[in-house]
Amino acid sequence: MPRPRNDTFLRALLREATEYTPVWLMRQAGRYLPEYNETRARAGSFLELCRSPAFATEVTMQPLARYELDAAILFSDILVVPDAMGLGLYFAEGEGPRFERPLREEWEIRDLEVPDPYVSLRYVMDAVAEIRRALDGSVPLIGFSGSPFTLACYMIEGGSSEDFRRVKTMLYDRPDLLHHVLDVNARAVTAYLNAQIESGVNAVMIFDTWGGALACGAYREFSLRYLSQILSGLLRSREGHRIPAIVFTKGGGNWLEEIAGSGCDAVGLDWCVDLGAARGRIGDRVALQGNLDPMVLLASPEAIQRESRRVLDSFGAGPGHVFNLGHGVIQHTPPENVGVLVRTVHEYSRAQRSGGG
Ligand code: CP3
Repeated sequence: MPRPRNDTFLRALLREATEYTPVWLMRQAGRYLPEYNETRARAGSFLELCRSPAFATEVTMQPLARYELDAAILFSDILVVPDAMGLGLYFAEGEGPRFERPLREEWEIRDLEVPDPYVSLRYVMDAVAEIRRALDGSVPLIGFSGSPFTLACYMIEGGSSEDFRRVKTMLYDRPDLLHHVLDVNARAVTAYLNAQIESGVNAVMIFDTWGGALACGAYREFSLRYLSQILSGLLRSREGHRIPAIVFTKGGGNWLEEIAGSGCDAVGLDWCVDLGAARGRIGDRVALQGNLDPMVLLASPEAIQRESRRVLDSFGAGPGHVFNLGHGVIQHTPPENVGVLVRTVHEYSRAQRSGGG
């Protein structure tokens, strides 16, 4: 498998020089795109999109047909892993994800097993292979997983939560039990990401969406520690090419130095941190990915240009930046605004490099 023709994204993750700043967006395939909604209606549901390699490939490719994005991201969901552990994932209309069998009893936690990704998540590996064929060597494909703690939040709460009261009660009352869940999750995620790497992804990203909800010391003990465990078990190269790993803890601005020391190649940043300041703290060790507020995409083209230039100026000259939002594209985003963003990032960052920015 040769490197993709446009490997700008991979080079930026390895802090190598690039002609411009590469850009992709979390949730670049999603409900803001009419063609996504059309495919989803044909598939019947979001989970059917995820479970069918043909549909997953179709929606993965949709944003790439519209915009000059520098990477594709596997279309799937972080919650397919606990689903493969037997928790029974479903989406109730308008309610977000839920589990039929959340972890409530100690015996349910003791019974948890690491799923074989080539058996119960075979459809994801088939999607990776099919997407690689559809990409035909154009841009890199990003694989992903949830972090052990973020997965545990959904597994224990049974769905989305505002306060994480069940998982936090367990953390303080029965840390041994939560550690058991996290250890199983870390082993499951390691096997799952390694299978994605063997199936053809060019980089991996771990979404620690709820790590930022933890108290300071608790973040280290219950999230970061398991991120490090995964990173030390990942296949880091395939056929002589490094497979970079990105860690994104939303709300993790307080712990950037420690996240940078977890063994990852790049750190994802939400919009609450100043990119230039983050670069000063950890940019000599890892690449940075982020960090435009997704709500900017609801504003005028002028505001989108101004705010995306502000992010590029904040990072400044030199390698090691992948442009992204600080979280996913929201459903209410006008599709043409994403085009404005991608063009601005490419044009302005080229000009920056030639001294004109
Ligand atoms: O980024 C991409 O384009 C790749 C696809 C992707 C999805 N989910 C598709 C999706 C990725 C990388 C995810 C990750 C994910 N899933 C996370 C971590 C990142 C984050 O957003 O914080 C989390 C926490 C989940 C769990 C999840 N899946 C929630 C909370 C929801 C409901 C919220 C919502 O936006 O509806 C989902 C559903 C989901 N996952 C959708 C998509 C496109 C919307 C489903 C639909 O079509 O109705």
